[in-house]
Amino acid sequence: MKLSVLKESRHGENRVALSPAVVQALIKAGHTIRVEKDAGLGSSFTYDSYEKAGAEIVSDGRMYDADLFLLVNPPSLEQVEHMPEGSALMSYMYASQNPEVFAALKAKKMTVFAMEEVPRISRAQSMDALSSQANLAGYKAVILGAEHLARIFPLMMTAAGTITPSRVLIFGAGVAGLQAIATAKRLGAIVEVSDVRPETKEQVESLGGKFIEVKSENAVQVEGGYAKDVSAEFLQKQKEAVEKSLYQADLVITTALVRGGKAPVLISADQVPKMKYGAVIVDMAVEQGGNCALSEPDKIVEYKGVKIIGATNLPSALSTNASELYAKNIQNLLQHLADEKGFKWEMEEEITKGCMVCGGDRVASSS
Ligand code: NAI
Repeated sequence: MKLSVLKESRHGENRVALSPAVVQALIKAGHTIRVEKDAGLGSSFTYDSYEKAGAEIVSDGRMYDADLFLLVNPPSLEQVEHMPEGSALMSYMYASQNPEVFAALKAKKMTVFAMEEVPRISRAQSMDALSSQANLAGYKAVILGAEHLARIFPLMMTAAGTITPSRVLIFGAGVAGLQAIATAKRLGAIVEVSDVRPETKEQVESLGGKFIEVKSENAVQVEGGYAKDVSAEFLQKQKEAVEKSLYQADLVITTALVRGGKAPVLISADQVPKMKYGAVIVDMAVEQGGNCALSEPDKIVEYKGVKIIGATNLPSALSTNASELYAKNIQNLLQHLADEKGFKWEMEEEITKGCMVCGGDRVASSS
């Protein structure tokens, strides 16, 4: 297939869909690859490294002569305009949040493989971009928080006195939260964690974190590993259970999401002034409405001595690693969906069915 790696249109995005190493592997598998000029520079992948891997760097209309377009973020409307009818796209899509772009892709009878829709099953783990990126984001959230704190994480005994360790509170022990726990522990902090899914207790403790238990009659409903329905009564009990830890914390990292819904508000505006002066909150759920009532996307809000960081695209801040892992996810998904003759179009197969959010017709009928 002719693959085309376009430059990302999202403001401030540093990632790119393919790394030079994956370009080399895909070319070896029989594909030809064009990379748009400057697409990889934000991830420190030079023209030279792509060319050595066998790709062609292109800055003109030939970018759009392709069977499959590869991106991290959804394309812009302008990019879709140039894509040939009936071609394919692999990228995050978030169709309900990008209705215009999705409609334009459908109007062009394109096939879209949405990376966020790859099923969370064991055999698809190597194709799961949500996990590969959330893992890095969890790490970066701790580093970002540390940067804004006026204190260190570990216990330190010095001739001038003993420094007590920082206290880190993490809401949500999914992929990002677990990496945040591991990172904060490695730096020497005392780490406490709240999650509504009881099964996370063991995972938190295996990383050295303290799990804050919530005693409630109303068990949280879990579906496919996701918290689905969290009652108001449970959220109130959780608020009471974590209050002491919140007011003692130096750094709070919030990652709590509810699939298909708005993120739960776990830190209210009246709780923030009761936190330690100088404390930092990194809100990783800010794009879904935020776990802190005061957070704003891509802004640092200072309120009564507390800094609230609305972190929207942390993987982009670790673009080299994030692009390397995303590219591997793409490579694995492509290897699963296609063979040397092109796409296999196994429409009833679970991974194909899960991530193919539109299309499939033209190529299916021609294969
Ligand atoms: P997520 O990003 O949807 O949510 C993050 C965390 O927030 C979850 O642990 C959730 O329980 C928690 N949360 C929701 N409401 C909360 C509240 N009110 N207070 C505190 N915490 C709250 O989750 P993510 O990281 O996408 O993973 C979700 C699940 O999927 C996990 O069980 C994970 O093990 C599973 N998974 C399975 C994979 C596979 O088998 N291929 C790959 C990745 C994840």
